[in-house]
Amino acid sequence: MSGVNDIRSTFLDYFKTNGHEVVSSSPLVPRNDPTLMFTNAGMVQFKNVFTGLEQRPYTTAATAQKCVRAGGKHNDLDNVGYTARHHTFFEMLGNFSFGDYFKERAIELAWNLITKEFGIDRNRLLVTVYHTDDEAHGLWKKIAGLSDDKIIRIPTSDNFWAMGDTGPCGPCSEIFYDHGDHIWGGPPGSPEEDGDRFIEIWNLVFMQYEQVTKEERIDLPRPSIDTGMGLERVAALLQGKHDNYDIDLFRALIDASVDLTGVKAEGERRASHRVIADHLRSSAFLIADGVLPSNEGRGYVLRRIMRRAMRHAQLLGAKDPVIYKLLPVLVQQMGRAYPELVRAESLISETLKLEETRFRKTLERGLTLLSDATATLDKGDSLDGETAFKLYDTYGFPLDLTQDALRGRGIGVDLTGFNDAMQRQKAEARANWAGSGDKAQETVWFELKEKFGATEFLGYSSETAEGQVLAVVKDGKVIEQASAGEEVQIVVNQTPFYGESGGQMGDTGEIVGEGFSLAVNDTQKKGEGVFVHVATVQNGVVKAGGAVQLNVDHARRSRLRSNHSATHLLHEALREVLGTHVAQKGSLVAPERLRFDISHPKPISAEELKVVEEMANEIIIQNAPVTTRLMAVDDAIAEGAMALFGEKYGDEVRVVSMGTALRGEKAGKSYSTELCGGTHVSATGDIGLVRLVGESAVGAGVRRIEALTGEAARAYLAEQDERVKTLASTLKVQPTDVVARVEALFDERRKLEKELADAKRKLAMGGGTTGGAEAPKQVNGVNFIGRVLAGIDAKDLKGMADEAKADLATAVVVLIAVADDGKASAVVSVTPDLVDRFSAVDLVRVASAALGGKGGGGRPDMAQAGGPDGAEAEAAIAAVEAALA
Ligand code: ALA
Repeated sequence: MSGVNDIRSTFLDYFKTNGHEVVSSSPLVPRNDPTLMFTNAGMVQFKNVFTGLEQRPYTTAATAQKCVRAGGKHNDLDNVGYTARHHTFFEMLGNFSFGDYFKERAIELAWNLITKEFGIDRNRLLVTVYHTDDEAHGLWKKIAGLSDDKIIRIPTSDNFWAMGDTGPCGPCSEIFYDHGDHIWGGPPGSPEEDGDRFIEIWNLVFMQYEQVTKEERIDLPRPSIDTGMGLERVAALLQGKHDNYDIDLFRALIDASVDLTGVKAEGERRASHRVIADHLRSSAFLIADGVLPSNEGRGYVLRRIMRRAMRHAQLLGAKDPVIYKLLPVLVQQMGRAYPELVRAESLISETLKLEETRFRKTLERGLTLLSDATATLDKGDSLDGETAFKLYDTYGFPLDLTQDALRGRGIGVDLTGFNDAMQRQKAEARANWAGSGDKAQETVWFELKEKFGATEFLGYSSETAEGQVLAVVKDGKVIEQASAGEEVQIVVNQTPFYGESGGQMGDTGEIVGEGFSLAVNDTQKKGEGVFVHVATVQNGVVKAGGAVQLNVDHARRSRLRSNHSATHLLHEALREVLGTHVAQKGSLVAPERLRFDISHPKPISAEELKVVEEMANEIIIQNAPVTTRLMAVDDAIAEGAMALFGEKYGDEVRVVSMGTALRGEKAGKSYSTELCGGTHVSATGDIGLVRLVGESAVGAGVRRIEALTGEAARAYLAEQDERVKTLASTLKVQPTDVVARVEALFDERRKLEKELADAKRKLAMGGGTTGGAEAPKQVNGVNFIGRVLAGIDAKDLKGMADEAKADLATAVVVLIAVADDGKASAVVSVTPDLVDRFSAVDLVRVASAALGGKGGGGRPDMAQAGGPDGAEAEAAIAAVEAALA
């Protein structure tokens, strides 16, 4: 039992056997603390459990917690590489009691673990207690049998642990290990305590109080225990090493770094390998927990760490990016204990490679500038702030990198000059911006951005977080406070609320603080990175300064995610089906539906839509993970990521990929790859289902697709199904037979219509169901039939006239149909034997004249005409009859 992995599991197993719940490490970005940059102790995730705000189903727990101390209050970055025990990333082993056991049991558990399980020589151990804590003093004597000289009372804050200015706190007792008199140093409390001989291995905090404000300290509901043991330190001890960087885990990383660069970890170069090993750990774990390099907040701390490592890689003579090549060794060492590392491996790898590739472009030149600028400087001198700022601004050298580069030569940096240069640049930016014509109302966002920086967005990985209210804004002005009923805009330092962009609507939800709550109705992004929560104060009074809990409306966000991811799938499917001319022209990702406009010159056919929908659903059914990477924009586009024309992208972009293509050139590769800052499902299956519900035109060459996903799509289909069922029951058939039944009904209807028309005609001609046609009249020796017909279509007249004369060898037939609007149509038919005597054309003109019409035409045996005066129909017939005579 001496490898880091064994020590970790021995610790956790020991506390499990002793009734503790083994709890997973919480993420490095704390969700429950607005002031903390990174999780820096095991107790962070339990902060609210100690104070009684949060309940858990257990009262004792043990963890191996990932911690980062870089940036913010606890910052070890500058020392890393040059000392035996400084890290930006480390693991803290801890056991916790939430009002369960207190001092006695805590001391007993700790003592037994280190002396029995770990087998550490008890003679080398000594402890400290807070100077007034007689109880702890007595317990160490009783339980460990330590003599008085090995229980040292410390009156300083070293033995009173507090997580920050506020929060749970209490006196503590630290366990030290004496590495032996061959190493310089004295016991804690002695003038030589900073030496390396006596090393603290475990801190037991007797949590008793809560620091509410700087002045006010109250008792915790129940006395509790919080402990922290640095895994790397205890591993060094158990492995007989004095230096944390000599433990198995670091040896593996450093050996790999040595292999890769061909430079031994000795002399001057030893620090570089250590820096790389340490910074690889913090970078990898931060990326796995959702932090990506940027120029703001946490992302900038990560960038500083990465670039510091990259400069050391360069010092080792590396010509190409190397840090990412060490990642597999880290994953092999720590991936079992922290599966998130395995899950995020490709993201970490690509992010490291990208950052190193980009930074290398300016690194050499920056270092040349730096060496030129410091050529004449000696130990104790300072580099001018102007040059340090130029390195920062133009060459991407974080300040601490410049400081680190000069450290070996004992040269500092003029920080005042650096800050002045920074301020000057900001002032210029402001002056330029003021002239850009934005509305005066919007000035406030720019000012807030300058004052507080961009809002840190936590919403890719979380829907809830704590934040600090930075400003309450109303009508373009920062106001003191707002009370119930007021509509305000709230700016916080960090938020899980997505600000509307890229077609995706902003999040809604609630903000809750001490004695007040707000309903967030929308979230917008303003002034380059300020997230603005558009909210109504529900109750109480909100003002800047306080901590708030921010809760995104989960159900709504889930729908937004599904609709956004489905938009990507439809985009790709549309390109596959219609062609690569299809480009996104607009998009609306709302919670209830999605709308997607594309360039396409003609309507999309029903068949095409069907195929598009099938393809998108095919990828949904794959349930493939959706991955997000940070890439250089050019690389992303070269890799085939779809970018929007006319869109302005930063140097680095988020690239969202989903699904595996089944056909075509991309078969086996990512199905959809797009530059996108939106929020997405974690696996395509989360979309559930996509259903196209509309296709229309929105302008020349632009078509609009509308679709539903998930529950909305299901409900839509269920409704359709219900309709079919109702139809089936009305038709008295099975739902499967509805179409055949309706077709049969239509056939039947056509048949009936025909029969009805026939019957009408018969009836009109004087026939009926019971009798034959009326006998013709004799006029001038000719059979004459003249009829006025109602309810008969003009187009049927000819057929009827033919029928009427069919039984007669010789006849003249005149039929006039009068339509509902009073207009008349006339047909005159003459049997062939009579055409020499009477022309149908002449006769129909007679009728037409009587009907107020003009002309008429046709052949001598059949002619047609019309006229407006249907009321004269009988007269028209009489006129024709008269013409025969
Ligand atoms: N929270 C205590 C520490 O960080 C155990 O040292």
